[in-house]
Amino acid sequence: METILSIRNLSVSYYTDEGEARAIRNLSLDVEKGETLGIVGESGSGKSTLALAIMGLLQPPARVKTGSIYYKGRNILSMQGEEIRKLRGKEIAMIFQDPMTSLNPVKKIRDHFIEYITEHMENIDEHKALEIARKMMKSVGISEERLDDYPHQFSGGMRQRVMIALALALNPNLILADEPTTALDVLVEAQILELVKRLKNEFSLTLILITHNMGVVAEMADRVAVMYCGRIVELSKTEELYKNPKHPYTKGLIESIPLLYNRSRKLVSIPGHPPDLRNIPSGCSFHPRCPYAFDKCMNVEPELEKKEDGRYVACHLY
Ligand SMILES: Nc1ncnc2c1ncn2[C@@H]1O[C@H](COP(=O)(O)OP(=O)(O)OP(=O)(O)O)[C@@H](O)[C@H]1O
Ligand code: SF4
Ligand SMILES: [Mg+2]
Repeated sequence: METILSIRNLSVSYYTDEGEARAIRNLSLDVEKGETLGIVGESGSGKSTLALAIMGLLQPPARVKTGSIYYKGRNILSMQGEEIRKLRGKEIAMIFQDPMTSLNPVKKIRDHFIEYITEHMENIDEHKALEIARKMMKSVGISEERLDDYPHQFSGGMRQRVMIALALALNPNLILADEPTTALDVLVEAQILELVKRLKNEFSLTLILITHNMGVVAEMADRVAVMYCGRIVELSKTEELYKNPKHPYTKGLIESIPLLYNRSRKLVSIPGHPPDLRNIPSGCSFHPRCPYAFDKCMNVEPELEKKEDGRYVACHLY
């Protein structure tokens, strides 16, 4: 297995008048080439912050406090200007939850393609860029005539297809999809996920799929990283995680699957609320909600450790 992305001891905080929100806390993670890695966790657990950090897109009030993110051996966090711009799009591309926020409403789809492609590729003219655009539209199942349409002329699902086509236009290796289907109805969601699966194989992609939907991860991911309060609390092969969740929080997530299929945004089956990131509980940050918590949990933060069975769990019970 070749490691394509290697995150080491990453800490990211948002600094606001209300204080420091510790969105990512000392997180380490390896992503293997060709895999689909699911990242799950409740709202506010730091998933999008992690994605933005990988893209080198974090903006104030966010600040990287510590750590490195190596992509093919080069640290993204120490890249600047042209170097990071070249990485984005050509090596790593991102698909967001709401395509409308990344598409310009007064620009035709063709112009989005032309701009995106000519900005990132040297020595390419509009004609060649359009050729790529046509090919990509075909790949995602949209007729090329629709390149002349504006974003609002597409349905939500079609718009997400366009975004996927754009993301793949420069032939990147790694795709970060942040809740790509959350805004869509169940039927369209299934179609988009099917498309992503197909394209992943066709283009030999590595995929990081961020979602709060355990059902989606079960269907798509080879491995799953479970985030809680800015940390990974469990990391396992998907099948093992679902059959035999170890971390008490993962157990709660798995039990909530039927609820998630009802498309509830909240994991209501886990009692209590996610902690305030400006005031994270001592010891294991899950302890106020954990049915198994004991003395040590209140004082000592468990590290994410590889166990005998090859699973990674951050819990004093293991
Ligand atoms: N622009 C911001 N300013 C201040 N704090 C922020 C900002 N964005 C995020 N945060 C803080 O970082 C935490 C993590 O946010 P993030 O968006 O990474 O969570 P998430 O797991 O993607 O949640 P969701 O499932 O809702 O998308 C938030 O709970 C919040 O405290
Ligand atoms: S370390 Fe303790 S509080 Fe945290 S998940 Fe494990 S048992 Fe629960
Ligand atoms: Mg998010």
